[in-house]
Parts: sequence; C-alpha cells; structure tokens
Amino acid sequence: MYAAFKHIHLLTVALSLGLFTLRGIWMLLDSDKLQKRWVKIVPHIIDTLLLVSAIGLMFQIHQYPFADGWLTAKLLGLIAYIVLGTIALKRGKTKGTRVIALVAAFAVIAYIVGVAIRHNALSWLA
Ligand code: HEM
Repeated sequence: MYAAFKHIHLLTVALSLGLFTLRGIWMLLDSDKLQKRWVKIVPHIIDTLLLVSAIGLMFQIHQYPFADGWLTAKLLGLIAYIVLGTIALKRGKTKGTRVIALVAAFAVIAYIVGVAIRHNALSWLA
C-alpha cells in the first residue's frame, strides 16, 4: 500500500509541476490556451490526488502535520504554492505581479522538494 501511495504521490507531483510550468509559460506568452476548459479542470483533479496520496502516506508512516515539523512545513508550503500559483495564473492584476508570483511559486516548490527528501523543515539546508 505504501508503494502505491508513493507512486501516485510522485506521479501527481510530476504532473502538477509539469502542468504548472506549462501554464506559467502560457501566462508569460499571454496565450489564450490558459482559458481552455480542460486547463481549468485537470489541475484540480491532479492536486486532489496529490493530497489524497499525501494523506495515505502520512497514515502509512505514522507522521502527521502539526506533530512532525517537516510535514507541517510541507502542508504550509503546499498552501503557499497554491496561493502563489493562483496569483501567477489568474488573480495577479499586472504582468509584473504575475511574474513575481510565478518565480516565488517555483522557489516554494524547490523548498518543498527539499523538505520531502531531507524530512526536515530546513529543506536543502538541513
Ligand atoms: C507540491 C507539493 C509536494 C511535493 C513537491 C512533494 C514531494 C514529495 C517527494 C519528492 C517525496 C519523496 C521523498 C523521498 O522519497 O525521499 C514525497 C514524499 C512524501 N510526501 Fe510529499 N510532496 C508534496 C506535498 C505533500 C503534502 C502536502 C504532504 C502532507 C502534508 C506530503 C506528505 C508526504 C509524505 C508523508 C511522504 C513520504 C515520506 C516517506 O516515505 O518517508 N507531501 N513528497
């Protein structure tokens, strides 16, 4: 069961980051592809599966946010990624704001991957 959740988690992480990068490029190019119906729906399905697999993994390894610091950091990181992603792709009023939010979202992702691998809220610095 652990292996299945881990595979789904890593697959959905890759899909989520891949789609986010693609949408970020479309935002930079002012492409109307961002408005396509599937582009608005599919990321929600992937991100839901990412969260479900994360919850599955938590129960497998008996470590949880607000009890284990690195998982608190991951959860807060995920929330920051979602908020920054929404500003970058939708809510940002000027292109400058959207670009800054996009760069910040990628920095947060780099932080989360470091937290995941090091099992430490200090991420790559641990
Ligand atoms: C964009 C968000 C996320 C990314 C990029 C991400 C990335 C990763 C990666 C790369 C691993 C594999 C680490 C390894 O094999 O050493 C992993 C494992 C894991 N992740 Fe995530 N994750 C994300 C969100 C979350 C969230 C929100 C939670 C829960 C709060 C979570 C919980 C876990 C757990 C419990 C494991 C298993 C660790 C282990 O087996 O020792 N992840 N994640």
